[in-house]
Amino acid sequence: MSKERAQWGSKFGFILAAAGSAVGLGNIWKFPYITGENGGGWFVLIYLICIAAVGLPIMIAEIFIGRTARNSPVGAFRTLSTPGSPWLGVGWLGVVTAFVILSYYSVVAGWSMHYVWLSLRGVLAQVPVDQVAGLFSSGDAAHPGLYESPWTNLFWHLLFMAMTIGIVIGGVQHGVERWSRILMPALFLIMLALLVQAALTPGFGQALDFVFGPHTEKLTPASVLEALGHSFFTLSLGMGAMITYGSYLTQEDDLVTTAITVSVLDTLIALMACMVLFPVIFSYGMEPAAGPGLVFVSLPIAFAQMPAGMLWATVFFVLLTFAALTSAISLLEVAVSYFIDERGWARRRATWTCGIAILLAGIPSALSGGTRLFGADVQAATARLGLRGGAGLNWFDTLDYLASNWMLPLGGLGIALFVAWRVGGRAREEGFRAGTRYARLYWGWVWLLRYLVPIGMSVVFLHAIGVINFAASGG
Ligand code: PHE
Repeated sequence: MSKERAQWGSKFGFILAAAGSAVGLGNIWKFPYITGENGGGWFVLIYLICIAAVGLPIMIAEIFIGRTARNSPVGAFRTLSTPGSPWLGVGWLGVVTAFVILSYYSVVAGWSMHYVWLSLRGVLAQVPVDQVAGLFSSGDAAHPGLYESPWTNLFWHLLFMAMTIGIVIGGVQHGVERWSRILMPALFLIMLALLVQAALTPGFGQALDFVFGPHTEKLTPASVLEALGHSFFTLSLGMGAMITYGSYLTQEDDLVTTAITVSVLDTLIALMACMVLFPVIFSYGMEPAAGPGLVFVSLPIAFAQMPAGMLWATVFFVLLTFAALTSAISLLEVAVSYFIDERGWARRRATWTCGIAILLAGIPSALSGGTRLFGADVQAATARLGLRGGAGLNWFDTLDYLASNWMLPLGGLGIALFVAWRVGGRAREEGFRAGTRYARLYWGWVWLLRYLVPIGMSVVFLHAIGVINFAASGG
């Protein structure tokens, strides 16, 4: 029982690792395109409110659970309730969600690596501009784009999973923390360089207005739910990643300031990503509402026409790959920590087993694009890659939809209800107040967890399963 449990080397190391988990494809790939689809402006404002009113309270709750129980999700719920209590189901759901998300997340990360390769080789610059889009999805079996090339997808998926396994196998301090200390500052510097570059393009002013101006034209009730759903995907909430990372903290750390820091960093990077992408998109007369193809289709077209475009394209896709990697390691760590804590496995064995299982589980996602394999209409499938529910989804879409709209909201709901109603009030209050100057916010936090967060999560879930129906946003 008294086996030494892994710990972060320092509080700063934890913040970098947690920010690494939060900042990922969600910030750089998904946030800009959903902002584009929802017309910018008010959508961004609503997203910010969701982060503060729903995301932040759940993040505090998750780190609180992990730090108090010093255990991975399943064990944490047992420690704080009773063995065999139904709350353990929330922990279980988290472990399953980690497998599901990482299995397709790795495929998208693989696309990003493919584009690093295309930019490095100068391919993006060599093909005629009107054929750059075809590098992603040509809709033509004779000249397949990446999306229609099962083997290429498989190759990058394998490579990305190998990198993820390689880091997680090193352990909390020597794997996760060490790599977060390298990758996160690098990511921030790359982002700044790209931002300076974007600020010099003629489209910068238009982009500023698009993202921060008072636009409401494309806003619908469904947009609000999309912002809400995204706010906890982007903060890595609802599946125990922050419980797991929190479990490697020492008791004395200030919970609230840490959670605020991570949320602010995540939001900052998401907004910076918009201010990197949209100026370039506008400068080259492209559509902000291009959907999931924004980063893999529209942006390369713009880069291909830009002075030193290949350099910027390389830098951008390296950034995207780094961001994905620090998120992927947190997903794998959730699964791995379960086998270490609950089954007593050695880290090496747990990492290889989970890593390979996820690698295999990701194969259908990697192959999803193959027209021949799934007989899907590739153009239509590409357009649905994001949060598009409804008939005709392929494997990849289905997993993303299930994870973001069912599993994470349910997990978030469980975590909020558990901390608000089940955990002893004293432990909760002491945990929140320890060492923080935000102690007076305690009751506000509990109130949000008791009422607002559960209502928000339930609406997202009920909308996803079709019980509540807002007419789909214009499309
Ligand atoms: N937060 C990550 C992103 O924005 C995704 C993620 C979700 C990572 C859940 C871990 C857990 O891309």
